[in-house]
Amino acid sequence: MHTADSAVWQPLLDAAVIAMHAAYAPYSGFQVGAAIRDDQGVLHAGCNVENAAYPEGTCAEAGAIAAMVKNGGRRIEAIVVVGEGELLVTPCGGCRQKIREFAKPDTPIVVASPDGVRRVFTLDALLPAAFGPDNLA
Ligand code: THU
Repeated sequence: MHTADSAVWQPLLDAAVIAMHAAYAPYSGFQVGAAIRDDQGVLHAGCNVENAAYPEGTCAEAGAIAAMVKNGGRRIEAIVVVGEGELLVTPCGGCRQKIREFAKPDTPIVVASPDGVRRVFTLDALLPAAFGPDNLA
């Protein structure tokens, strides 16, 4: 399902927006939320958590993945990333690789603002020719 129709993504978007408002981003002031639907239909959310030692901060997507794994999830069926601003809040390069671990090339990565979905990408579009678990099989 790669529709940009917000209604389809609303439960994930709602979870991501709640997470976004919980973000700890005192340095950038840029709050991000992410929400994953796993292959059991369970939602897992996370937010960015910054640190005075800047490189130690973590992204919203990493928090959502950690929540999924902690809850026993091992497969990302879809992920919504939400943030404010004019430009699309696409996952950073590191997070694309983190998503790759638990997703397939056609897994939707939905970029949203709190008002709704802005664009739907596939993982393959954001991280082509990715290295993943298959390479080690
Ligand atoms: N950030 C995320 O959490 N996810 C993204 O997709 C892009 C960037 C965070 C990292 C940092 O805390 C802040 O946004 C500014 O880069």
